[in-house]
Amino acid sequence: MLKINNVSKTYLKNQKEALKNINLNITKGEFTALLGQNGAGKTTLINILAGNVKKTHGEVKIGGYDLEKQELETKKIIGIVPQEISYDPAFTVEELLKKQSGYFGLKNNNEYIDELLESLALKDKKKAYGRELSGGMKRRLLIVKALVHKPEILILDEPTAGVDIELRHTMYEFLRKLHKSGMTIILTTHYIEEAEKLCKRVIVINNGSIIADEPKDKLLKDFSKEIKVEIDFDWEVNIADFEFLSEYHPKIKDKRKVSLKIDKNDLTKILEMIMQKNMKFVDLNIEKQKLEDVYLQLIRR
Ligand SMILES: Nc1ncnc2c1ncn2[C@@H]1O[C@H](COP(=O)(O)OP(=O)(O)O)[C@@H](O)[C@H]1O
Ligand SMILES: [Mg+2]
Repeated sequence: MLKINNVSKTYLKNQKEALKNINLNITKGEFTALLGQNGAGKTTLINILAGNVKKTHGEVKIGGYDLEKQELETKKIIGIVPQEISYDPAFTVEELLKKQSGYFGLKNNNEYIDELLESLALKDKKKAYGRELSGGMKRRLLIVKALVHKPEILILDEPTAGVDIELRHTMYEFLRKLHKSGMTIILTTHYIEEAEKLCKRVIVINNGSIIADEPKDKLLKDFSKEIKVEIDFDWEVNIADFEFLSEYHPKIKDKRKVSLKIDKNDLTKILEMIMQKNMKFVDLNIEKQKLEDVYLQLIRR
């Protein structure tokens, strides 16, 4: 569906090597997160796919078509939601979307446009001018605009930046539905919980290079040997009571809890040690590794 081979980008202006030898293969129906800190190269990569930035080296195939030699064909296959608001604010929502449809030669697209506006809670803004929309509405309008020509791949560059929580959830629901209906989706985000909730594959880009590209579950599993355990007692505990667990760095929390950082495989052993001391506990919480921790560890490597 999307093949990126040895793609590099050096910006002429400042000789910045924004992408170094990127290789990526996205198959139909995948829901992929593209994670990376500010300046990692995410937008550069997306702008190359959108045809807004010219790559320095490499080859890009979209749906089998060459990005440069068959530009129009590739444009039909992808829908791109840019990071920056990129439409003329002097048009109404309806006018903008009709214009966008016209660009792809679609004339009777009104029903589909209405459907999209409805799904993204923008239906009553049809007659509003682009400039009258709130930040969150503008972001959602960009999604509608990217979809009017029914592309096969949707690529979103930080679509939820600055969008309030409730509307972010509307967007998640929408993306889930879209994915279920067969859409291939690539989502760039710095809200890691978003990638965790929605995506199956996670690609981490750092300093212009891909440093991880794995199924989310595998990535979490590989990094999840260490877990945080919180044990609640029904009396006020004292740090001295946990001398026998000192290698697990016990910490007292809220007077009646102790928290430990342990290897998953040691859990039974530790619980047995506690029970042998006749320290009856009333609750036990295990905190699993989150994608955010994994991400930070990857970046620090
Ligand atoms: N038009 C440009 N001219 C020169 N350097 C740029 C340009 N756009 C981005 N860069 C640089 O390229 C690097 C990657 O930027 P970008 O792709 O925007 O990263 P991200 O989207 O991951 O934050 C950064 O160092 C950025 O400063
Ligand atoms: Mg960016």
